[in-house]
Amino acid sequence: MEIITCKDNEELSAKAAEIIINKVTEGPNAVLGLATGSTPVKTYENLIQAYKDGKVSFKNVTTFNLDEYVGLAPDHSNSYTHFMNEQLFDHIDIDKEKTHIPNGLADKSEKESEDFEQKIAEQGPIDLQILGLGLNGHIGFNEPGTPFNQRTHVVELDEITRQSNARFFDELSQVPTHAISMGIGTIMEAKEILLLVHGVQKADILKEVVHGEVTEKVPASILQTHPNVKVITDIEF
Ligand code: GLP
Repeated sequence: MEIITCKDNEELSAKAAEIIINKVTEGPNAVLGLATGSTPVKTYENLIQAYKDGKVSFKNVTTFNLDEYVGLAPDHSNSYTHFMNEQLFDHIDIDKEKTHIPNGLADKSEKESEDFEQKIAEQGPIDLQILGLGLNGHIGFNEPGTPFNQRTHVVELDEITRQSNARFFDELSQVPTHAISMGIGTIMEAKEILLLVHGVQKADILKEVVHGEVTEKVPASILQTHPNVKVITDIEF
């Protein structure tokens, strides 16, 4: 793992955006794996600015998002589809047909997971996967205990995750109990991974992820075994 320590979230986001832009410039048909949560928001702002400045085009880029809540319609204000449209897709020249996010309203979430996995197999591999880090070490919605070889699947969310994400909802009871998440096995097949970690509240878990034992109890610790991971963080550890 290469650790890139930045002085603040601005620098972290600028660095992450620079790497993404370089990837798309080198290969305009790049396949990107994208993340939600508050961490990548500024990175996406930088991508939008670079597009507006004529420095990059996303016309031929394909994207796969990590996860989606089960039970939320794509246009629900808390769905990750809505998030991606608002934070990125609506402001760049990406072809929405080439953006893929699991459908939280699919009749059968297991079938939706298999179909999503199939699409990655057909259109992948993912050239560059962006990841955030959950307070419990999760990546995507792969909670502690998820087998490292898991493919895209339906997840029951940890209480810690529901509480942490309740800040985006009116109250905790509205936070879905399940999600569809790209599996760790799928994530590990990305050619390159950027793990973005912002804020002192993640210092302890980041230490475990980078220096601790590789264990399913800390899902992101598996990244120690991936050949091309950059951790970009504003945490000194
Ligand atoms: C969420 C998402 C993850 C995200 C993580 C951290 O639950 N499923 O993909 O990386 O938690 O979120 P944040 O960046 O808001 O701290």
